[in-house]
Amino acid sequence: MKKILITGGAGFIGSHVVRLFVNKYPDYQIFNLDKLTYAGNLENLSDIDQKPNYHFVKGDIVDAEFINQLFEKERFDGVIHLAAESHVDRSITNPMEFIFTNVVGTVNLLNAAKNLWKENYEGKRFYHISTDEVYGALGETGSFKETTPYSPHSPYSASKASSDHFVRAYHDTYGLPSVISNCSNNYGPNQFPEKLIPLFINNIKHNKSLPVYGKGINVRDWLYVEDHARAIDLIFHKGQTGSTYNIGGNNEWRNIDLIKKLIEILDHKLGRPAGTSLSLITYVTDRAGHDLRYAIDATKLHTELGWQPTIQFDEGFDATVDWYLANEKWLDNVTSGSYQEYYRKMYGE
Ligand code: NAD
Ligand code: DAU
Repeated sequence: MKKILITGGAGFIGSHVVRLFVNKYPDYQIFNLDKLTYAGNLENLSDIDQKPNYHFVKGDIVDAEFINQLFEKERFDGVIHLAAESHVDRSITNPMEFIFTNVVGTVNLLNAAKNLWKENYEGKRFYHISTDEVYGALGETGSFKETTPYSPHSPYSASKASSDHFVRAYHDTYGLPSVISNCSNNYGPNQFPEKLIPLFINNIKHNKSLPVYGKGINVRDWLYVEDHARAIDLIFHKGQTGSTYNIGGNNEWRNIDLIKKLIEILDHKLGRPAGTSLSLITYVTDRAGHDLRYAIDATKLHTELGWQPTIQFDEGFDATVDWYLANEKWLDNVTSGSYQEYYRKMYGE
């Protein structure tokens, strides 16, 4: 019987990871620790929250005393750490929250795991989920490898880079059995509509303007969230201790091309004449420090562990649009209340 702590399990990627582990490993006890910030939503897990191997703990990873007590009480065998402040734009307006959660919160978890496991690291694992943004920005060619030097540009990516360094330092200094993965942009159901794809789906649906930063020429590599969850499962169980794995979709899109594809699909699904929603595109001031291009070289994960994406982009993208259209109540719930204030401050509407 293994006890696994998954942090941030009520968020976008975390909820897909929790679901996969709860369903696939009935002999594991899965503990979801989440503060339930604006981005955390227990509705994301309503299909599995009654399972006997699922446990929810509400708490803040920044609270060291609480974290230490939880580790002493539950005596976890493994940690999969996803809890984070995750939105670049919010990090530009409020960097301190990112330093507290992403840096201090991660170090609190590292300390608690080290203290609990220090007598015997056998069978233990601390898995830190990170981002490709730590590598900085690419020009028109090339891709990030695990050996690419870190060069973060936003407070978000700087906080994630810092937490990655702490995880490596705890491995090198204390022998903590850790592993890290750095993934590209995820898309899919349950993503908070501050991120490009769900925000633009919601805006197109409501005939609201689509704020494209700069010229829309920035490039992102998109991966379906369930493929990321599958990679996390594989790395947690089979990844080499002390190692780093890049995860990517091999699926690069310029923002403006992705937005036009989204418009094409939605105009069709909403029964509007083709191209109707193109008029919603509004070019706005660019994001400060906006990274031009991300691309991932996931060769190591493929050759060592045999992972590759399974969901074709056309299929995943279409299914994603369908999910947001079918889950109107979910979207309405998360865009009520404080979301309105965020939107006004961010986009001035
Ligand atoms: P998210 O914002 O949707 O979810 C984050 C979750 O963490 C929420 O449930 C929130 O309530 C919880 N949380 C925040 N602060 C907390 C705290 N102090 N204590 C406990 N819980 C807290 O994020 P996401 O997009 O699902 O990202 C999850 C992880 O994956 C993050 O570490 C992120 O850096 C990384 N990542 C995300 C992407 C992406 O495209 N979304 C890509 C690569 C890596
Ligand atoms: O690469 C992995 C990262 O991907 C994760 O670590 C982050 O947690 C996640 O938020 C995501 O970061 P991005 O900044 O790439 O994602 P976002 O959805 O915010 O933006 C995608 C692109 O779209 C980016 O180039 C900025 C642009 N954009 C975004 C928004 C919200 C716009 O043009 N307009 C917008 O309103």
